[in-house]
Amino acid sequence: MKQVQDYIRTIVDFPHEGILFRDVTTLFADPRGFRIAIDQLLHPYAGMQFDKVVGLEARGFILGGAIAHQLSVGFVPIRKKGKLPGAVISEEYQLEYGEAIVEIHDDAIKPGEKILVVDDLLATGGTAEAGIKLVERLGGEIIGCAFIVDLPDLGGRKKLEALGMEVHALCA
Ligand code: PRP
Ligand code: ADE
Repeated sequence: MKQVQDYIRTIVDFPHEGILFRDVTTLFADPRGFRIAIDQLLHPYAGMQFDKVVGLEARGFILGGAIAHQLSVGFVPIRKKGKLPGAVISEEYQLEYGEAIVEIHDDAIKPGEKILVVDDLLATGGTAEAGIKLVERLGGEIIGCAFIVDLPDLGGRKKLEALGMEVHALCA
């Protein structure tokens, strides 16, 4: 029986030379692959209460939307700079192949709300750390951070655990 990692392909030298890009679009495109990925992402949180799912652009939107629907809670996007129409707060960060700024609407989370943060992949952890800071600046309480892929050599899990986060990933 195929496992989640069997649906993910690796594209060499994308978006830059030397990067082995883990492409989860092949997982999302497969009905069984997508379903088992969502089910396994949710597994450790069975019986726990969340107020919102926060997804990181772009593939975190696809996962986060499905997870929020499954949990019957709202979904909040964290987007790259300049994409959200309302008032935002921002965080700058580094990632495996560059740097960027992410933003969240400043009224998207209320203090004390319990949050699940979702993205497809954890590499250096720069993107997730910026997202965590945004949620915490709004007073959200992060219960967990869930990813399909963790690339442990790039240090993201250690970075998030040092921030006190519970990290859940399906494959390396
Ligand atoms: C990828 C991935 C994560 C991030 C992980 O997104 O989807 O969000 O990189 O890298 P890090 O742990 O080193 O921060 P990318 O920045 O390529 O943006 P996209 O999803 O908008 O294409
Ligand atoms: N984001 C950062 N590094 C990545 C990789 N190797 N594959 C896919 N997304 C990434």
